[in-house]
Amino acid sequence: MNTSTVIRKQMSIHPDVMDLLNNQIAMEMKASASYLAMASWCDQRELLNSKSFFYKQAEEEREHAMKIFAFINDNGGAAISPSVDNVNNDFESLRGIYEAGLEQEIGVTESIFKIFKAARKESDFITEVFLQWFINEQSEEEDTFRSIIDVFDLMEGMPLKMIDERLPSE
Ligand code: FEO
Repeated sequence: MNTSTVIRKQMSIHPDVMDLLNNQIAMEMKASASYLAMASWCDQRELLNSKSFFYKQAEEEREHAMKIFAFINDNGGAAISPSVDNVNNDFESLRGIYEAGLEQEIGVTESIFKIFKAARKESDFITEVFLQWFINEQSEEEDTFRSIIDVFDLMEGMPLKMIDERLPSE
């Protein structure tokens, strides 16, 4: 191996795994856009804790996308900026929003597991290690949404603003 070959950056991510990671960027950006729509619904109704919770979630999902984006490019791959469409802005209730949020998080967790399995199968250790952070993060996020939905169960029949006051703002 001559010096130029050694110096040139080699792609250390398996190509199939990279495709899945690019899909994941799109999924995280879609989640971000979806949380932004939820934040707007809450903002219009002065549900202060929920509004700030979803604005924060929207930012966090963008950060997740950017983490993967940088990971791909830093490892010699090609990150793709995704198009985001079909964002739902139409919601029936605050509880319905949190349930949709949980459903979205469960979908993200399943998708991360799928990439993790593919990385393991291809002996793509660098991606496997990288994804461990996401697995922990998903477990925390699902937990947060589940606890919020529990609050709705406990406070059933109470005014919406009163329920909102019991919810986390971030
Ligand atoms: Fe980044 Fe909560 O999915």
